[in-house]
Amino acid sequence: MIIKFSLNGKNTSLDTDPMKRLLDILRENYNLLSVKESCGEGECGACTVLLNGLPVTSCLINIIQVDGGSVITAEGISETSLGKLIAASFTETNAVQCGFCFPGFLVTTYHYLQHDPDCDENKIKNALSGNICRCTGYQKIIEAVQLACRKLADQEHKHEDV
Ligand code: FES
Ligand code: FES
Repeated sequence: MIIKFSLNGKNTSLDTDPMKRLLDILRENYNLLSVKESCGEGECGACTVLLNGLPVTSCLINIIQVDGGSVITAEGISETSLGKLIAASFTETNAVQCGFCFPGFLVTTYHYLQHDPDCDENKIKNALSGNICRCTGYQKIIEAVQLACRKLADQEHKHEDV
């Protein structure tokens, strides 16, 4: 079956088994290796991408569900100014150790800060509750998102002042 969709802002199509997992298509057909597999059951968030603007675990999505839609991976997000700001904040707070979970956190954080840029710790914890990290103990990740949130607020104030 021919599946057409937008991937990181570019239109694409492929002839494939409609039940193949989005996770496998992204890694095998598009070499988008930021999309990681860990649990394969929708529990860890390592495979998170945006589908039609919402974070989804791509291990639970069949490619037919993507037909006509839009997918953004961590590769696409890392090209944006907000994605760069988030990545810099994770670096500054030493929130990345092995890095396996980072693309999923980047996607989820991007969605959170785009839609509800509230620096409250509990709101951030809630937003990131679908992403698991085996290394950091989470505190540095929360600090990273709060730092990104404050930087974003500063940028917006500067724009308002102009
Ligand atoms: S690999 Fe998809 S949620 Fe864990
Ligand atoms: S930094 Fe290793 S799993 Fe999060």
